[in-house]
Amino acid sequence: MSLTVIDHPLVQHKLALIRDERTGSKDFRELITEVTMLMAFEAMRDLELEETTVKTPVETARVKVLSGKKLALVAILRAGLIMVDGILKLVPAAKVGHIGTYRNPESKLPVRYYAKLPQDIKDRRVFVLDPMLATGGSAVDAIAEVKKLGASQIKLLNIIAAPEGVARVQAAHPDVEIVVAALDSHLNDHAYIVPGLGDAGDRIYGTK
Ligand code: PRP
Ligand code: URA
Repeated sequence: MSLTVIDHPLVQHKLALIRDERTGSKDFRELITEVTMLMAFEAMRDLELEETTVKTPVETARVKVLSGKKLALVAILRAGLIMVDGILKLVPAAKVGHIGTYRNPESKLPVRYYAKLPQDIKDRRVFVLDPMLATGGSAVDAIAEVKKLGASQIKLLNIIAAPEGVARVQAAHPDVEIVVAALDSHLNDHAYIVPGLGDAGDRIYGTK
């Protein structure tokens, strides 16, 4: 049961701007992309490498290149979609799956309306992406869907998590490492993260 909080100064500085209610959608999207790339840098630290050689203009060099399982990114719609592009810039060969869920405003339970995952996802390392981990319902559901297709190496990347969500994911999926930029205080009565950043989907897409 592992939780990694990325407390790098660049991540924390950008997170401060993301949280600020005065930050508009354009900057919000750009900052989420940047933080996601920095988080991916850390979350992918354990990717396997193999040695090979390349010829530089000067001499032959021993080099290391990625090996082992290929990657899959799974975005939890809507908000998770914004985290895909930054990681694809780093690992353009990754395949991308989408799981659509929204939280029922009364019950706070996730309602699934879409799922399309790479067919070979069981042979890939999977990174499930969603800026917010609140009750954990959406993430638990998405990870279960990914596991149904046989995937076994899964990490969950969230920008901000609540302790309640972390506990829920750890209970349901103890094998999944959770990587976050911040672990916040608690959930409020509407199951929003405190202090959080508000509604991620609305702030990304300007829907409120
Ligand atoms: C938000 C967020 C997560 C979910 C987290 O999505 O992007 O998917 O809530 O909450 P949970 O941990 O309690 O499940 P939302 O339901 O607002 O849908 P949207 O991204 O389409 O706006
Ligand atoms: N979804 C969000 O977008 N924000 C929260 O704080 C909780 C769920």
